[in-house]
Amino acid sequence: MPPSVETFDPQAAIRAELLEGLLAEPAHIASKYFYDALGCKLFEAICELPEYALTRNEAAIFAEHGAAMARAIGPGCTLIDLGAGNCAKAAALFPLLHPSQYVPIDISQDFLLESVARLQPRFAHIEMTPVAQDFSEHLQLPASVREQHRLFFYPGSSIGNFSPSQALALLRRMRALCLGSDGGVLIGIDLLKDKAVLEAAYDDALGLTAAFNLNLLRHVNRLAGTDFDVKQWLHRAHFNAALGRVEMHLLAAEDVRLSWPGQQRFFMSGESIHTENSYKYSIEGFTELLQRAGFEVQGQWTDADQGFAVIHARASAG
Ligand code: AVI
Repeated sequence: MPPSVETFDPQAAIRAELLEGLLAEPAHIASKYFYDALGCKLFEAICELPEYALTRNEAAIFAEHGAAMARAIGPGCTLIDLGAGNCAKAAALFPLLHPSQYVPIDISQDFLLESVARLQPRFAHIEMTPVAQDFSEHLQLPASVREQHRLFFYPGSSIGNFSPSQALALLRRMRALCLGSDGGVLIGIDLLKDKAVLEAAYDDALGLTAAFNLNLLRHVNRLAGTDFDVKQWLHRAHFNAALGRVEMHLLAAEDVRLSWPGQQRFFMSGESIHTENSYKYSIEGFTELLQRAGFEVQGQWTDADQGFAVIHARASAG
């Protein structure tokens, strides 16, 4: 008999993960599935909304304090950009940081390669090493990534979409990959603030965030073969003060029988699918998380309204 060959089918693994979440009590879908082509465009539009100040606050911090950050970090770093997307945030820092190598990491290979192809001619002197990877599962760097002076750049408060224990594990992984190389992190976090302000940011008057949340169901239909009808679901967002996070859910607007090949699940009217957590931190709370992961904070910068913070921390040896 020929030896059996173990094959890994990524599509089947995604389908299995999604269907397990849909059968769970309460049902959930991982927020990384928001970002199909339309989801990416909707997220870009959300960043323009008056209610969603995160992106503007962070941009204001980089505009005002970018030079001070660059002085603290020093020139010639290996800049590792987590969730790089169009690479625009990191590229805006190139003239200040003068990285010797740029390593954008993103789950979407085509988008990443297009972005780097556009960027490389403008910065021909910077070696660019794109890595297509779902780093939320297991962050790994290829051997071509220099070991000297690694700086993990993680803007946009994307770390807030992980639970604190997942965030801690990811930070520990970053530390393991930059320890001994004078390495560190430059990370953006959305700060705790008034409940009404937080809830408006995730339930805007134009309904863009509702569309972003509902679009997830169409993406899941394509990935998992489900038959979601977005008209049967309602967007809900609320701040869970006890857990320090904004939660997004989709509620069944009526009784729903959801089917996919070989199986089905019944949702009663009002039943929820949990689609996202967006954790908000105090500077002290996030500093503690960084310390637990083995980093020492070197600098922190906030916008005028104390809505957002950018923190620079170095991997400590102890
Ligand atoms: C990408 N991430 C940091 C956004 C957030 O604020 O949690 C995603 C988002 N969800 C709803 N609006 C924006």
